[in-house]
Amino acid sequence: MDQQPLLNIGDYAKAARGALARDVCDYYEGGALDEITLRENVSGWEKLKLYYRVLAGVGPRELSTTVLGQSISMPIAIAPTAFHRLACAEAEIAAAKAARAAGTLFVLSSLSNTAMETVLAQAASPRWFQLYIYKDREITRALVQRAEAAGAEAIVLTVDAPGLGTRERDCRNKFCLPEGLAVENLAPAGKGSIPKVEGSGLAAYVRDNFKSDLCFDDLDWLCSCTRLPVVVKGVCRGDDARRIADHGAKAIVVSNHGGRQLDTAPATCEALPFVVAAVGDRCEVYVDGGIRRGSDLLKAIALGARAVLVGRPILWGLCVAGERGALQVLEILRRELDEAMLLCGCTTLSDVDASLLRP
Ligand code: FNR
Ligand code: LAC
Repeated sequence: MDQQPLLNIGDYAKAARGALARDVCDYYEGGALDEITLRENVSGWEKLKLYYRVLAGVGPRELSTTVLGQSISMPIAIAPTAFHRLACAEAEIAAAKAARAAGTLFVLSSLSNTAMETVLAQAASPRWFQLYIYKDREITRALVQRAEAAGAEAIVLTVDAPGLGTRERDCRNKFCLPEGLAVENLAPAGKGSIPKVEGSGLAAYVRDNFKSDLCFDDLDWLCSCTRLPVVVKGVCRGDDARRIADHGAKAIVVSNHGGRQLDTAPATCEALPFVVAAVGDRCEVYVDGGIRRGSDLLKAIALGARAVLVGRPILWGLCVAGERGALQVLEILRRELDEAMLLCGCTTLSDVDASLLRP
């Protein structure tokens, strides 16, 4: 293992790459097809330039905010990602505890290696559950009911995966879960195992189980069958966003699933302004994809995001040092955001406005 101190998210990525088996590393890191969106998510934020304000009398920065009315200590949350047991022994529990220690939001994936009851019991408020809609509505309903009972405070409906985007790395590696690991939340419904097939076992699982003709009726159904607020994740267009708000969603995540679904979908920094303009104050808007520096975060907020989610950086943190690693990743981003605010002339998040990108 690298003896150098891990200073930034890139250092965590490198250290994780050195520690993980090839197929897991490829699953975590990879994207769809030519991985153009995957790369552009990252380079999109990098390319935006910050027209910093000077002589602004910046005081101690205030990073805390709220999501759906719940306080978080900074506008940085943990995105739902599948299969944390591939990264560390404590799996999703480590990620939940890291979010708790950082005072921020944790979103648990449907596809966790630990049952949601166990994970959500270790997570502090706010804790949300990410939902995939299964072909079998009763399976989906049971997930929602269990999430409510387990203390989830919102349901995050992922809508950009009616099928799995082809990840050629996973096809070559015949990606599937090692012996002993399962999709624990679905085990009671008999949908706990990822098949061993030619190509990606996960793609086969999604083909067999996820509802591929997802539509607004499914969103209406979900809103009617839960008392929790519904957040819709995976949006890149203003017209969709507006309609999603009309159908009762309380928040939207601008996301292309980390470049893992439709390749050549726009980088999220390009899509975000359309969604923000379309929904105005009707819905909270968050964004994820390619956030690797505090300056990326500041740019996302300048473009109108209320908060950002991070996916792979957390997986890299988990892989390097479990809960402690994931927490360090969050703290690096917090420190970098704080510095970016200081140098841009911003004391509060409301000082972070669009003029920083277009003076
Ligand atoms: C994901 N993502 C994801 N999203 C979701 O709604 N449910 C899921 O189970 C998963 N699983 C998953 C696994 C892995 C390995 C990755 C990398 C991503 C997408 C995730 O929530 C988020 O949109 C992206 O990860 C954001 O991009 P970055 O931060 O990874 O660049
Ligand atoms: C992924 C799915 C599981 O991106 O969301 O791998």
